[in-house]
Amino acid sequence: MFDLIPLIKTIGYLGIFGIVFAESGLFIGFFLPGDSLIFTAGFLASQGFLNIWNLVFLIFIGAVIGDSFGYAFGKKVGPMIFKREDSFLFHKDNLNKAKVFYEKYGGKAIILARFMPGIRTFAPILAGVGRMHYSKFLSFNIIGGALWGIGLPLLGYYLGNVVPNIDRYIVLIVLFIIFISVSPMIWHILKDKNARGRILNALRAKTKYAGKLIVFNWKMNPETLESAIDMAKKGDHKNIVIVPPFVFIEEIGKIIKKAKLGAQDLFYKDAGGGSFTGEISASELINLGVKYVIVGHSERRAMGESNEIISSKIKTALDNGLIPILCVGESLEQRNAGKTNEIIQFQLSTALSNLKLITSNFQLIIAYEPIWAIGTGNNCSPEDALKMIEFIKNTLLTFNFKLPTKILYGGSVNPENINDFLKYKEIDGVLVGGASLNPELFF
Ligand code: PGA
Repeated sequence: MFDLIPLIKTIGYLGIFGIVFAESGLFIGFFLPGDSLIFTAGFLASQGFLNIWNLVFLIFIGAVIGDSFGYAFGKKVGPMIFKREDSFLFHKDNLNKAKVFYEKYGGKAIILARFMPGIRTFAPILAGVGRMHYSKFLSFNIIGGALWGIGLPLLGYYLGNVVPNIDRYIVLIVLFIIFISVSPMIWHILKDKNARGRILNALRAKTKYAGKLIVFNWKMNPETLESAIDMAKKGDHKNIVIVPPFVFIEEIGKIIKKAKLGAQDLFYKDAGGGSFTGEISASELINLGVKYVIVGHSERRAMGESNEIISSKIKTALDNGLIPILCVGESLEQRNAGKTNEIIQFQLSTALSNLKLITSNFQLIIAYEPIWAIGTGNNCSPEDALKMIEFIKNTLLTFNFKLPTKILYGGSVNPENINDFLKYKEIDGVLVGGASLNPELFF
C-alpha cells in the first residue's frame, strides 16, 4: 500500500484513470487503492512529476464514467437476478428496498459512497438495480466525482506545495486518509445495535477460551444421532474437544470444523485388531480422526478399572498418537480423611509408571476431578482446584516427567462458573460433563 509513489510513477495517467474507473463501477475493483492513490498522485504533481490539471481532469472523468458504468450494469443485470421470485440468494423485496432507499437518500448516498472504500464500488451498481432516476443519479454522480476526484488530488497538491519536506509524512497522511474514509462505515456499524452484537459475538467466539482447552464429555448421551449432530454443531468452536459416545464419533467427525474429536475410552492393549469383544482400539479411533481420549474417568474406575489398566491405556494412547486425558481425583471420604494429596500422588505415579521410555513430543493432559464434585452441582472451589493443580504440577516435577502436560479441572463446571476456573493461568482448561449437553450456553 505504501509503495504508491513507485506504482503511480509506473502506471502514469492511464493507469490512474483505469484504477479510478474500475474502482468506481466494476465489481472487481473494490480492493484497489482509491483515496490514498489519488491523494498521492496530487502530491506527486506538486513535485513536478505529473501535471495537476491533466490529473484531476482524468480522475474526475474516470470516476464519473465508472459510476455510470456501474449504474448501467446494475440496471441491466439487476432485474435479471431478481426475476425469479424468492430465489435462494435474492428476494424481490430487496430490489424494492434498494429502490426505496435510493428514492429517499439517493443523492446523499451516491456522494457519501465516493469516500467509502468498498461501498464506492457497489453504490452505483445498487442505484442501477434500484432504478434511481438517471438524471438524478448523474447529477449526484458528478458532484460526488468532483468532490472526491478533484478535491483529494488538489489537497495532495496543495499540501505538497506548502508543507516543507512533506514526503517525510506522506505515509502518515495516507494512513490518516484511509482512517477518515473508513470511519463513517465503522461508525455506522457501531451505531447499529444488531451489527455491534454480531461483531462482539464473533470476537468473543474467537477469543473466549483462547489458550485454554474445554473438553465436552457427553458420557452416555444423547440417545439419537440427530440430537448428537445438533449438539456438535452448537459446540463446534476453537479450543473445544467434543467427546461423544463411540457410536456417534464417525458422524460427528464429519461435521465439526473447528472443534477436535475425543473418545471416552480405548482398549488397553496396542492391538490392531483381535478377539476382544466390545472393545475399541487406539488405531480404530485414530482412523476416525480422534485426537484425544479420556482415560481413568472415575465413573470407569468405579466399574472396576484398575490403575494398572489405566497405565497401559495411557501408554497405548501415546504410542498410537492419541493425546490421553488422564482423570485423577479423590472421593469425599478420602478428602475428609485428609488423604487427597496421597491419593492423587498414587494415581499419578501408577498411571504414568509406563511412560519412562517415552521421550517423544506427545502431549499428556491430566484432569483433576474430585469425585464428590462430579455430576453433583457441587463444584470444587476454584481456589482449591488451583491448589490441587499446583500440587499435580509439582508431583510431576518430582517424577522427572518429560512430556508436555496440561492440567484441567473437572466437576460441575457450567457456563456460570467456567471463568472462575479459567481466570487462573495455571488452570489450562476444564472438563465438562452434564453442562456440555447444552453447548450453546458456553458461547
Ligand atoms: P460434570 O462431569 O461436569 O457433570 O460434573 C464432569 C466429568 O465427569 O468429567
